[in-house]
Amino acid sequence: MCGIVGAVAQRDVAEILLEGLRRLEYRGYDSAGLAVTDENGTLSRVRRLGKVQELADAVHANPVSGGTGIAHTRWATHGEPSEINAHPHMSGENIAVVHNGIIENHEALREMLREKGYVFTSQTDTEVICHLVDLELTNHTSLLAAVQAAVKQLEGAYGTVVMDRRDASRVIVARSGSPLVIGFGMGEHFIASDQLALLPVTRRFAFLEEGDVAEVTRFDVNIFDRDGHPVEREVKESEVSHDAGDKGQYRHYMLKEVYEQPIAIQRTLEGRLHNGQVISSAFGDNAEELLKNVKHIQIIACGTSYHAGLVARYWFEQWAGISCNVEIASEFRYRRSHVFENSLLVTLSQSGETADTLAALRLAKEMGYMASLTICNVPGSSLVRESDMAYMMKAGAEIGVASTKAFTVQLAGLLMLVGAVGRHNALDAAGEARLVSALQSLPAKVEQTLTMAESIEALAEDFADKQHALFLGRGEQSPIAMEGALKLKEISYIHAEAYAAGELKHGPLALIDADMPVIVVAPNNELLEKLKSNVEEVRARGGLMYVFADTKANFASDDTMKVLNVPHCDEFIAPILYTLPLQLLSYYVALIKGTDVDQPRNLAKSVTVE
Ligand code: M6R
Repeated sequence: MCGIVGAVAQRDVAEILLEGLRRLEYRGYDSAGLAVTDENGTLSRVRRLGKVQELADAVHANPVSGGTGIAHTRWATHGEPSEINAHPHMSGENIAVVHNGIIENHEALREMLREKGYVFTSQTDTEVICHLVDLELTNHTSLLAAVQAAVKQLEGAYGTVVMDRRDASRVIVARSGSPLVIGFGMGEHFIASDQLALLPVTRRFAFLEEGDVAEVTRFDVNIFDRDGHPVEREVKESEVSHDAGDKGQYRHYMLKEVYEQPIAIQRTLEGRLHNGQVISSAFGDNAEELLKNVKHIQIIACGTSYHAGLVARYWFEQWAGISCNVEIASEFRYRRSHVFENSLLVTLSQSGETADTLAALRLAKEMGYMASLTICNVPGSSLVRESDMAYMMKAGAEIGVASTKAFTVQLAGLLMLVGAVGRHNALDAAGEARLVSALQSLPAKVEQTLTMAESIEALAEDFADKQHALFLGRGEQSPIAMEGALKLKEISYIHAEAYAAGELKHGPLALIDADMPVIVVAPNNELLEKLKSNVEEVRARGGLMYVFADTKANFASDDTMKVLNVPHCDEFIAPILYTLPLQLLSYYVALIKGTDVDQPRNLAKSVTVE
């Protein structure tokens, strides 16, 4: 999704802006632009369709100078991807604006502004902000007051930075529904939609809250809440590592992140398991008090995070003995749902900024849940700030659009929650101790499972000319099959579907032929014999299967089936281990197909619009 970078400094900021945009590239975008102003009032704007590198080439060909600047990567919503629609947008020669989010009442505002004589040059909703600020400057003496008045008229979501050519000493920043951070340097300040963009220039950040408007100069940051009252927002040292945006020895971020899973899980579990017990303060300071009363869990998430929730539903009902519902956030937020007694609302999100999940949390907070908990990877993100409790995943920055390490770390966090809630319900001390020991074995087991990479790479050849694939699993492995299918379609563009294997004969069997590879996840659990019957159903219809099976599951490769063994493990952690070969399979298939693994077409890393 769109990315914002801004700076107010004494030095030229074009390179800082470009580097910031590069570090936001992973979010997905179709065009990029920047505008800088110098103290003589010269404003230079450069925009390009395509990659940040094209923008950088244009800037290097015709260098721009100035200490105040704004920059943007655009992911088209209103208006096609084009240079004309790329940000920054301008009103006349003075007001320049970058914007993330969607202005829902842009048509009405456009009409009103046209009547006042403003001419629109783009199809974007953003352009109304520029003209509105310009209009408000006729009623107000400062840019701050004009922006404050303008944003009051906006409906929808925005994170925006406004600059005026006539006063290079400041920019005005406003946030509602789309995140923005302010970075604190020495005699200079920065703005970004994600702290990752600014790590080369600062590690000190203040997160704006909903409705905040801030005036940012070289020396001061003055923040006002939605009612215009001055407010303080705590400045915190970033916990994100400086090289988070670096691929290191790996060809793609996705591969790097797949291989980071053992350490990411270990870091996340560190200090949170002790003497066969889950330490419940990992979920928040007073979590134990709340968790002991939980009788139902409602999970809300999107995409891969939703799949983690689906796995956890099996766990909560089977091990903790409490009921659990899981729903896609974009559905939950638009329907009337029932709140069970003593129900804990759990949101799952890598980014903490997914618009639908955030909207669902806000709605749920009005509905009478006993408390809200988020399991999230980004400290200071909106979900973390707005939830009653937060379990911080320590997966480190995930840059690849395809979520990998965030998923397995989420599952580890959810298993901890099964322990923390289950001990007050159906999970006895021995059960909790077994769960804890399975979790402790996880980093090494993940490491061992990743050694399957070479044989999976060889297997991937079989998929290169395929148009479709079917993924099968049973029980808590059926969401793993869904996750495998999502990974494959997301990065290789092969159409993939997933089914709970017992559903085959109710329709999908009709699809089976030699051109439809069938991928089966087969751990050694109580459903193994049932799954074997489903495998026979496929074999009898001429299907070709790829089975990821427990070493003790007794599958053997033959003409119709290639079997790859996954290390034997405790049932608790099997869904996590079986995810890994599916991640690797999708990666190697995408590599053969030559798709853009880290930034697949049409997708964005952090989906901050609905
Ligand atoms: O940041 P979140 O976990 O809230 O993101 C949710 C989905 O957008 C995300 O998982 C998406 O499905 C991934 N691209 C899947 O790989």
